[in-house]
Amino acid sequence: MTNLSRRRLLASSGAAAAGATLPLWTWSPSASIAGTGAGLDPDHVWDVRADPVIERLYGEGIDKVAEVNEILKSWTTNDQPLPGGLPGYLVDFIEEARRLPAWADQGKLKLAGTFNEEKYGFFLALLYTLGSGLISCAIKREAWSVYYSYGGSDMRDRIAKTTVLGYDVMDAQGWTASGRLMVNSVKTRMVHAAVRHLLPQSPHWSSVGAGQKIPISQADILVTFHSLGTWVMKKFTEWNIEPTQELADAFLHAWNVDLHLLGVQEQYLPKDWSAAYSQYDQVMGPATGGTREGVELAQALLDSVIGEGNPLLRHELESLGRYVIGDAYADMIGFDKDPLLASLWATTVPLLVTSYQSTVPNIPIVSNLLPEAVHTFIKIYFSPGDPAPITLPLGNRPQ
Ligand code: HEM
Repeated sequence: MTNLSRRRLLASSGAAAAGATLPLWTWSPSASIAGTGAGLDPDHVWDVRADPVIERLYGEGIDKVAEVNEILKSWTTNDQPLPGGLPGYLVDFIEEARRLPAWADQGKLKLAGTFNEEKYGFFLALLYTLGSGLISCAIKREAWSVYYSYGGSDMRDRIAKTTVLGYDVMDAQGWTASGRLMVNSVKTRMVHAAVRHLLPQSPHWSSVGAGQKIPISQADILVTFHSLGTWVMKKFTEWNIEPTQELADAFLHAWNVDLHLLGVQEQYLPKDWSAAYSQYDQVMGPATGGTREGVELAQALLDSVIGEGNPLLRHELESLGRYVIGDAYADMIGFDKDPLLASLWATTVPLLVTSYQSTVPNIPIVSNLLPEAVHTFIKIYFSPGDPAPITLPLGNRPQ
């Protein structure tokens, strides 16, 4: 179990904003890739194509879902034909869902792949793990739905998989014929549809969903994207490690293609960074806050990477996490405050960034300014051993 203290809970509830209702949607579809659209509030839009298909599958019984999971285990690479034995309606859906949109640009996807390399790779990994991974615990609906769905009983696996998928979006290999990103994204789209089917049946959901009857709306997916891609790009800017405009555009493009594969409609995909930032400003604040589940998730995440106990290391990572995500989010997840360590990070991290900016950047050497524990944390986080295949959940979190 997790190291959940009364102090952490009190700290996080002090930070909680009321409910999880998103504000009136005013972001215009003219700022989207589609350039046009009905402008419907994405918080009232789910996945009109995937949801009925997955609903139908669950209607055939849980044994059928388990059988589909077994068959899909062998479907792993982007160019691989679907294995036989799947219901026809599912084949139709997957064949349609796995196709890249007409506006996908292979050149940009390839360029986005250079993000993973030495130049930005360390910062991307640091920001995704001790940044986005932690912020995901402060996104109220995400914390609730992850906690009460099946995967909630293995939180490290859950949070890490989301971040790792986000990280793979910046991996040129992921988009190639032998890559796995397109397959994993379509499988994730199906898992999200399964959660929409299963979670409303959980006795816990009605008490936490803050009025949301069906989880994982299009708005929720956009929020998670902003906690990953947009937040990281904002942080790159804040830390003065801004990529060139061309590279930044490629980064957004890769995210947009992946969001398409995850079932987000083109009328909600920001066409450029300025459109992304204005969407971020609209949704991020109201979507975040302190919840008991989020505090527990964050501790479970630390537990699973550094082991239970380990108070000194935990304290060190919590204070670095606080430096990275800022006090507002850190308070929401009840993270430790330590003025001494805070000033240490405030000196060390900019030094790391400055070293990066020197004429001969050598991230592996300068990143030694951070304690080994941070490297170990990132390494373990991104290498969950033999990664379990993404499968449709057969139920909610066991009581
Ligand atoms: C499952 C990624 C948005 C809640 C997953 C999985 C991945 C993933 C890779 C599969 C894990 C597995 O079962 O093996 C993403 C990405 C997102 C996103 C990249 C957006 C950019 C969201 C949002 C929510 C959410 C917005 C909720 C508000 C869940 C839940 C599961 C799941 C509950 C299933 C957990 C289980 O029971 O196994 N997601 N996700 N995700 N996601 Fe997301």
